Amino acid sequence: MDHITYQFEYAERIPVAFIGAGGHSYRNVYPSFQYAPVDLRAVCDLDGERAAEYARLFGAPRSYTDHRELLERERPAAVFVVTSYAEDGRVQATDLALDCLRAGAHVWMEKPTAASVAEIRQLQRESAAAGRFVMTGLKKIFTPAMERTKEIISAPEFGEVSSVSVRYPQSLPAFEERHDLRAMRGFLDHIYHPGAVLHHLMGDVCGFGYQWEPVSGASTASLRFASGAVGTLHLAAGSAGTSPLERVEVVGQDANVVVDNSVRLTYYRRGARLGYGRSPSYVVNEEHAPLHWEPEFSLGQLYNKNLFYLGYVPELLHFCDSVLAGTPPTRGTLEDSLAVMRLFEAYRTVPAGTFVDLPLNPSPPNENGAA
Ligand SMILES: NC(=O)c1ccc[n+]([C@@H]2O[C@H](COP(=O)([O-])OP(=O)(O)OC[C@H]3O[C@@H](n4cnc5c(N)ncnc54)[C@H](O)[C@@H]3O)[C@@H](O)[C@H]2O)c1
Repeated sequence: MDHITYQFEYAERIPVAFIGAGGHSYRNVYPSFQYAPVDLRAVCDLDGERAAEYARLFGAPRSYTDHRELLERERPAAVFVVTSYAEDGRVQATDLALDCLRAGAHVWMEKPTAASVAEIRQLQRESAAAGRFVMTGLKKIFTPAMERTKEIISAPEFGEVSSVSVRYPQSLPAFEERHDLRAMRGFLDHIYHPGAVLHHLMGDVCGFGYQWEPVSGASTASLRFASGAVGTLHLAAGSAGTSPLERVEVVGQDANVVVDNSVRLTYYRRGARLGYGRSPSYVVNEEHAPLHWEPEFSLGQLYNKNLFYLGYVPELLHFCDSVLAGTPPTRGTLEDSLAVMRLFEAYRTVPAGTFVDLPLNPSPPNENGAA
């Protein structure tokens, strides 16, 4: 994607509806529509005044408080769902997505897609039955830095990927509390971010174990991937609020790549020879030198907007391209969500200090997400 079309410039726009008029959608999702081929026909929220305000502000002619009425009357080709959590900790968007599928609409939804493997399985079944797809906004795998990282590690000169480390601040509750989805809400909300990155870059996890620290709830997981590579997931609860949240490093063969703070990308390329004890300079030839990218943050350019460098517009465009082409998305798929849910259930049910094969078999008894 190297050229962005403004919404009003598109010759063909998808008739869409939006369920949810909350904080995140106001800041990041509705504004991304400025750059997507959508025609927003209606907004729905349980809070009718907010639904009407959002409709007015973001250009939809109608608003609703009942999503079923919206689906019935508007018959949208696609629905965007950005809602929250039920009292019992379940994800509201899961059931809403099922209703949209049954009404014949494609679905784009915010993470979390669901709270269990079983719910993802149900979405997969109903998506296949309806012939409509469900995509989750896994923004981390749509950032320009992560897109390039995937290209770099897939190129032959990077060599076989050997290991990965992902750092992300997130607290894991005590083991005794993890059966309760309400206690797991923060963890569920966030595991989708590092979990999506791991799955996108490395594929399926086949072995999993972790250590846990009780004061902050921090943890360090040790991972083995089906590819044969190994990795760590450092959930760095206890970090300062001013700290960059994330760091991702992938190591190949004589090459590695680092993404710092989502936007700083450095590729340490193979081939430099710095003989020990005899090399007078670290300034290697250009052909072996590291490559480094970061935004300039001065110009009023699209790439300087968080809507772009955090992946929001790119993820919406991937969905819209899929709808217009009639081909399922390849990123943010239910398969991707399934991989994250398997990790989530492993954290929920495996005690610290043990190492298990994934996927867990049989799946945990509370996989329907009931508290
Ligand atoms: N990817 C990201 O960067 C990111 C960041 C923040 C939040 N999120 C996700 O976005 C979602 C929303 O978060 P938020 O903080 O904006 O929540 P919020 O509580 O501010 O908004 C949710 C809205 O959904 C509405 N809603 C709930 N059930 C509904 C229904 N059946 N019909 C119509 N409207 C309904 C609520 O009334 C509320 O207005 C969450 O899933 C969260 O994980 C993602």
